[in-house]
Amino acid sequence: MSGRRPEKPSPSSADHATPTVKEALERGGRTLAAHSGDEASREALFLLAGLLDSSPGRLALERDRSLSQDEWGVYQSWLDRRAAGEPMQYIEGRAAFRELSLRVDRSVLIPRPETEQLVEHVLEWCRGGEGLVGLDLGTGSGAIAISLLLEGPFRAFVAVDISGGALNVARVNASETRVAERLDLRQGSLFEALRPGERFHVIVSNPPYIADGEAGSLPEEVRDWEPAVALYSGPTGVEVISQIVESAPRFLEPGGLLALEVAPTVADAAVQCIRDSALYREPRLAHDLAGQRRLLLAELGG
Ligand SMILES: C[S@@+](CC[C@H](N)C(=O)[O-])C[C@H]1O[C@@H](n2cnc3c(N)ncnc32)[C@H](O)[C@@H]1O
Repeated sequence: MSGRRPEKPSPSSADHATPTVKEALERGGRTLAAHSGDEASREALFLLAGLLDSSPGRLALERDRSLSQDEWGVYQSWLDRRAAGEPMQYIEGRAAFRELSLRVDRSVLIPRPETEQLVEHVLEWCRGGEGLVGLDLGTGSGAIAISLLLEGPFRAFVAVDISGGALNVARVNASETRVAERLDLRQGSLFEALRPGERFHVIVSNPPYIADGEAGSLPEEVRDWEPAVALYSGPTGVEVISQIVESAPRFLEPGGLLALEVAPTVADAAVQCIRDSALYREPRLAHDLAGQRRLLLAELGG
């Protein structure tokens, strides 16, 4: 994928006062040791590979190349950010998701492997379909909608987020992955940005599902760096899910799919919301790769 981070230095002639790749990696490992422990050397390697638009394997062949002054300056600032606890993906400005390298910054959640599984379940459900139209609620970086547009039988997607910052990131990702013409990005709270009469074959969402009181049990890297609006749902964790379950039938085609990522802790409550609505067929709760009840799929009756 094209596109360069603004702060990334342009390659320029090597400055002999600066370290070689090998020396920079050694320094990187030492800088990160206190924060990252056993992972320090690996993280130092990945950061430098990302900075130099290289790969960890290729860097091994370039160990004697000197860094330019710019490259060394940016690498040191990246190491300092990592040592302060910032997630690697925010530092590099990129996160891997399925086939994609998506742009991320602190206005979006870093897309997760569990969500790759959510996309997989939607793709399975869609197999054999064509010309489908989907809705992604809480699109963040656009990971779900963009993947489904590229990998599935979707003609178009509407993607909604309450955060203007997130939509800016999704817009860049849509453009870099060449789906911008098929992705309609809208700002608003859940269904508020939809027009009366709009109908979708699939509504998919990875909504905020952490209870406000659970903040203390989150890893620091999540709690201190990822956007609160992407994480917390309210006192129980099921608030946003229940709003989606309640309103989705008005926007789904008959027999259409509602696909949600949920926390294992709210999975039972989410299933109960669907049963209580009585408008859906019996839902299916699938496990993620870690064996957690995470992916909730329900078809609209009728
Ligand atoms: C858990 S993140 C998921 C982001 C992305 N879909 C992903 O899976 O990586 C939840 C997203 O929902 C958005 N959000 C939170 N409350 C919302 C609301 N009421 N209406 C629309 N979007 C909301 C947040 O800004 C955030 O981008």
